[in-house]
Amino acid sequence: MRILVTGGSGYIGSHTTLQLIAAGHEVVIADNFSRSKLSVLGRLESLSGASIKHHVIDLTDQEATDRLFAQGAFEAVIHFAGLKAVGESVAMPLEYYSNNLGLTLSVLTAMRTHGVKKLVFSSSATVYGEHAQVPMQEPFPTSANNPYGWTKVMQEQMLRDVGVADPSMRIALLRYFNPVGAHKSGMIGEDPQGVPNNLMPLLAQIAVGRREFLSVYGKDYPTPDGTARRDYLHVEDLAAGHVAALNRLGETQEPVSTWNLGTGTPTSVLEMVSAFAAASGREIPTVDAPRRPGDIADSFADPAKAQAELGWVAARTIDDMCADTWRWQSQNPDGFPEA
Ligand code: UD1
Repeated sequence: MRILVTGGSGYIGSHTTLQLIAAGHEVVIADNFSRSKLSVLGRLESLSGASIKHHVIDLTDQEATDRLFAQGAFEAVIHFAGLKAVGESVAMPLEYYSNNLGLTLSVLTAMRTHGVKKLVFSSSATVYGEHAQVPMQEPFPTSANNPYGWTKVMQEQMLRDVGVADPSMRIALLRYFNPVGAHKSGMIGEDPQGVPNNLMPLLAQIAVGRREFLSVYGKDYPTPDGTARRDYLHVEDLAAGHVAALNRLGETQEPVSTWNLGTGTPTSVLEMVSAFAAASGREIPTVDAPRRPGDIADSFADPAKAQAELGWVAARTIDDMCADTWRWQSQNPDGFPEA
């Protein structure tokens, strides 16, 4: 298939692009490169051996998006583009709503105009909200407690409404748990701009000497070691989930399908610190800190639906995730080069 990958230069988009090419698809990347670097593209080309078309484009611009689709002859869209920092979204709610919702509106409108029916959407486990039971299952109600999370809840709703209006659409809502790790080569990985918000890039930057210590946000959670637990999954498993979902959209009878992408196994902050110290051979100093507002004790998937319907499982271990993150970070201490 000829596939438009929005946000294809980002962390998950870049890993998925490689797997789509390996599966025989042709990929066109559309990205504004606001949170990524153009140098990702050269790495993707050398890893895939393919030349990858890209467009530097603001996808909230409906006219520009329509022009892209007019030339594109896309058969499917994998839609990663969006802003994703929780703290930033609290400080800049209007930017988050206008960007994340605007992108999806204009992509969906262009899809309608140009008769593109298949869409795979990057949703998040954040849509289960603060009070969900674990393991989290797809039929649970959705909610959020910050603007970023609400943009995911709202985009899911927009997509469900589009599926009602046009039952010939085939849309996958993929609810990611906590993606970590990097490509085996160490050539691509997560490269957050500014101070990272998420645990794994912080551990990697501490190990490589860019930061001094980790603040452990809360040791009084009702978990075995008192620190919060998450369902970390390897970005390569997550990328494979997109390829599996895209294949499944060719067979499914419903316009909209929702799948959790996680391992189903929780790992605590302190377990992650030890695993990363072991993988890197570096010390990870920690400092106890209060709970981070909005954090929950436990978040992990029930991945049974994805397993049954996509034939997909996240098989890579926490040690694989740490070893691969470390290879990427130690080979690229400052992330991707500017040019
Ligand atoms: C966070 C977001 C979530 C988003 C996801 C992906 C919040 C509240 N949630 O998920 O909405 O979908 O990222 O971008 O921001 N931790 C520390 N010290 C740190 C950083 C993190 O102890 O310096 C702990 C956190 O308290 C948490 C765990 O590590 O228990 C994982 O944190 P993180 O990687 O930020 O992921 P989430 O909070 O699960």
